[in-house]
Amino acid sequence: MASEKILGYLDSHRDEHVDQLVEFLKIPSISSQSDHDQDTRRAASFVADELKELGLAVEVVDLGGHPLIYAETEIRPDRKTLLFYGHYDVQPVDPLDLWDTPPFEPRIENGIIYARGACDDKGQVYTHIKALEAYVRQGIELPVNVKFIIEGEEEAGGESIYKYTEQNAEKMACDAIIVSDTALYNETTPGICYSLKGLAYMEIQVTGPAMDLHSGSYGGTVQNPGNALAEIVAKLKDEDGRCLVPGFYDDVLELDQEERDGFAELGYTDEILCKETGASAAFGEKGFTTLERMWARPTCDVNGLLSGYGGEGAKTIIPANAMAKVSMRLVPNQEPEKIAKAFTDYVLSIAPAGVKVEVIDHHGANPVLVPRKSDMMKAGMSALEQGFGAKPVFIREGGSIPIVGTFQKCLKSPVLLLGYGLSTDNIHSPNEKFHLDNFWRGARTSAILMEEAAKQG
Ligand code: BES
Ligand code: MN
Ligand code: MN
Repeated sequence: MASEKILGYLDSHRDEHVDQLVEFLKIPSISSQSDHDQDTRRAASFVADELKELGLAVEVVDLGGHPLIYAETEIRPDRKTLLFYGHYDVQPVDPLDLWDTPPFEPRIENGIIYARGACDDKGQVYTHIKALEAYVRQGIELPVNVKFIIEGEEEAGGESIYKYTEQNAEKMACDAIIVSDTALYNETTPGICYSLKGLAYMEIQVTGPAMDLHSGSYGGTVQNPGNALAEIVAKLKDEDGRCLVPGFYDDVLELDQEERDGFAELGYTDEILCKETGASAAFGEKGFTTLERMWARPTCDVNGLLSGYGGEGAKTIIPANAMAKVSMRLVPNQEPEKIAKAFTDYVLSIAPAGVKVEVIDHHGANPVLVPRKSDMMKAGMSALEQGFGAKPVFIREGGSIPIVGTFQKCLKSPVLLLGYGLSTDNIHSPNEKFHLDNFWRGARTSAILMEEAAKQG
């Protein structure tokens, strides 16, 4: 078996691989901020150069946004093909003052690397590159054809990868799509994720008087945009945590008994939730357990709420406007467009008189459901078990990876969501981190997966 040599290589190059990851993490490739456009290009080159050095044919594709990297090994028709997806772009870093050390000066402490992108998603992408490197440097023939598609617009809702996938489905043809951009179940148990939530992201703008007004002179005479928005927001959900948008639950695919039992067996408790989040109690839609709500119930949440004066002391005004950003996380088989329309219609129908209310549909993502029983799923389970030394459990995920639905539709291949992060790795937050053990185990898993996938019928 080849794997001894492969795993030996990964073990003996751990420090070197971490040093290289540090260099990758130093690049501030924030996709949503245009002053970082040179940095996203550098991050793309970093990935492209590594893949070129490993002998892959590499394309850096510019479709008007941030560059997309497509790469493949020599394609032999007698081998299975794995397509690895990931993203090199990262989230903005603010609030900067809450970082213990600067986000793009990676720090390693107690076996944990801290930096923006460490877990989401550079560290996870890098596990696959290092797994491939092990084969190439050991001169061991790859058990599968390997393709990579690594994008730089995942965090910014970019279009490039959609266009590319729609136009290059044949080139990207594969037996499985491997995505490492989610989390383990917990520190000791790997998980194989079989569902991602989708997303409808909305903004409500309320416009009142032409300017902020003295709240004494004009209070009680005109509609207050802050109050009006509060009324709207208050009607988005009832006190049992159910969303009041008409039709919101119509297409929701209910959990089956096996899934409910599986979730219950995991033993997740509200104490764990409170410890992870710092919240004082669990809350959410009545009639469902915390894990059911987290993984399989749609949500409707204010993500931002602004109106009037928020500075020091008091300032007596009727604000001229108010705005709210609201995200709805969707589950199979809800459709983002349909939900966005239902939300817009509802908000406009409950808009108080005397203000102008507008609703903007920002972006959406389709939910994802992967069959739990397939040969590739077996390969993924086996690879995770060997790579992490523990049996994986089936999990779902509350986050979204927008392109995955399009992959399913255009490429028609099974998707394997093999996440190596932890829910507590602070992705999108200050002090994002990645446990080096999970980085190394992830690389082992990826290398083993190539063998396991090759074995499937
Ligand atoms: N890697 C995340 C998705 C994710 C989030 C996985 C939480 C596991 C746990 C991905 O990079 C992400 O942030 N997705 C966005 C998509 C959105 C911008 C359309 C998300 O879920 O908010
Ligand atoms: Mn990600
Ligand atoms: Mn992210």
